[in-house]
Amino acid sequence: MSWQTLRADRLGYVALKVTDMDQSVAFWTDAVQLEVTERRDDKTFLRGGMQHHWIALHQAEESGLARIGIEVADRETLARFEHELTGAGVTVENGQALKEDHIVEYLRFEDPSGNPLELYADMVSMATPPRPISVNLLEIQHAVVNIEHLGNTEEFYCGLLGMRVSDYIGKMMFFAHFRNGWHHGMGFAMTPGQTSGFHHVCFQPPDLDNVMRARARVKKLGYEITLDLLRHGPSGSVGFYFVGPDGVAEMSYGARLFGEEELFNPRQLSMSPATIDVWQTGLDDEGASAADGLKSLGGNS
Ligand SMILES: [Fe+2]
Repeated sequence: MSWQTLRADRLGYVALKVTDMDQSVAFWTDAVQLEVTERRDDKTFLRGGMQHHWIALHQAEESGLARIGIEVADRETLARFEHELTGAGVTVENGQALKEDHIVEYLRFEDPSGNPLELYADMVSMATPPRPISVNLLEIQHAVVNIEHLGNTEEFYCGLLGMRVSDYIGKMMFFAHFRNGWHHGMGFAMTPGQTSGFHHVCFQPPDLDNVMRARARVKKLGYEITLDLLRHGPSGSVGFYFVGPDGVAEMSYGARLFGEEELFNPRQLSMSPATIDVWQTGLDDEGASAADGLKSLGGNS
């Protein structure tokens, strides 16, 4: 297999449309422990690292996915992506949004399911690290979106954006990685009843202690834990899922990291309880279906 040389580097941020900004900011700051970098009438930006934001909240009439932001190496790379995308017939808006969105240059377009995406170079960096309440976060690690079909999604993200498939899960989901190598920078799910939109976002603490401190705080605040401590079969990460006003967030550490030159044939895994959580191996299925599995992981629109 020959790898694409034109590749996107990493998941940069997730922008969500929210209907109650105060309620949303409370979740992302108290439970996820991100720090507000800017709040104005229609937008709030929150960070967990040195980048200006990992999450952007846009005030809107209806909640949902506003945009997935994907970082590329530099503006020359961005120009090459624009050439490739427009050549493939994708409608691309290019622009600069330093003041509005803290992004120097961007390309905005949609994936085949209608999920809004942005490739950008660069985002504003902060001068000092954030000061978390009790949990250190290393990365915004992955986002999962709902899609209509697997085939054209793989063609789009791998063929045009240079992602590489990490694993297929049943016939309803696959994971793919960016150049930064995390097992999945994005996941794609054919969630029943959803053909596009936000499924969940994952943040990566450095170790189990940080995951457990995050979990203790989420429990104390009273947000619902939708999937408690588990180890995922595909990536090997250990974490938990919880839900706020804008959908599901995950905290997990220990995901597999792919090397840039690593040759890897994606596995075909089954959508079973043991794939979602290897610690459930050997337990009775209790009638769980693939659809139940996807719903349990998130699946908000
Ligand atoms: Fe996840």
